[in-house]
Amino acid sequence: MNDALQEIHDFLPCRTPQQWIDNALANQDLMLIDHAHCEKKAASTALSLMYRYVDNTDLLNKMSRLAREELRHFEQVLAIMKKRGVQYDHLTPARYAAGLRQEVRSEDPGRLVDVLIVGAIIEARSCERFAALAPHLDDKLTDFYNSLLKSEARHYQDYLKLAEQANGGPVTDRVQTFLAIEHGLIIEPDTEFRFHSGPVH
Ligand SMILES: [Fe+2]
Ligand SMILES: [Fe+2]
Repeated sequence: MNDALQEIHDFLPCRTPQQWIDNALANQDLMLIDHAHCEKKAASTALSLMYRYVDNTDLLNKMSRLAREELRHFEQVLAIMKKRGVQYDHLTPARYAAGLRQEVRSEDPGRLVDVLIVGAIIEARSCERFAALAPHLDDKLTDFYNSLLKSEARHYQDYLKLAEQANGGPVTDRVQTFLAIEHGLIIEPDTEFRFHSGPVH
């Protein structure tokens, strides 16, 4: 597992700022609610790719499995929330995913390549954040987040491989473009704490 986490750290442009970790620890109920939304959204993104790219068998298989895993994560977060008396609720989404999606090209195959790269980055950042948070949480959440970071590391690799397939070769330039945007979204001050927000001061 350490190798997979090392790969994620090498891939991402920066570590999560300490201020964000402090925000998360001070807002654990909100963190869980937004986490539930993120798992549900991850499943939904995988399903929408399955609707759009019905001729891509590798994508269909990987996204189907991924959607099931994300829904399982969703159920696990809900169960933890229920035990803690945390009520699920609507939340405004973080600026993060929308900020990345702005750079996605509108025409295929560029669109697919970019959506898959964004997927890889979101999975990698989720993995990095689970690892950053785990040492600071109670035993139950520590175990849970450690188990999740393994899945998200695998999802990151699946997305990246599919992006290379869709592009018919390396995607290094596009990845760098998206990572530069991601860097800003992670380090620049944010207005509302979310699982993928910047630091809130
Ligand atoms: Fe997940
Ligand atoms: Fe995932």
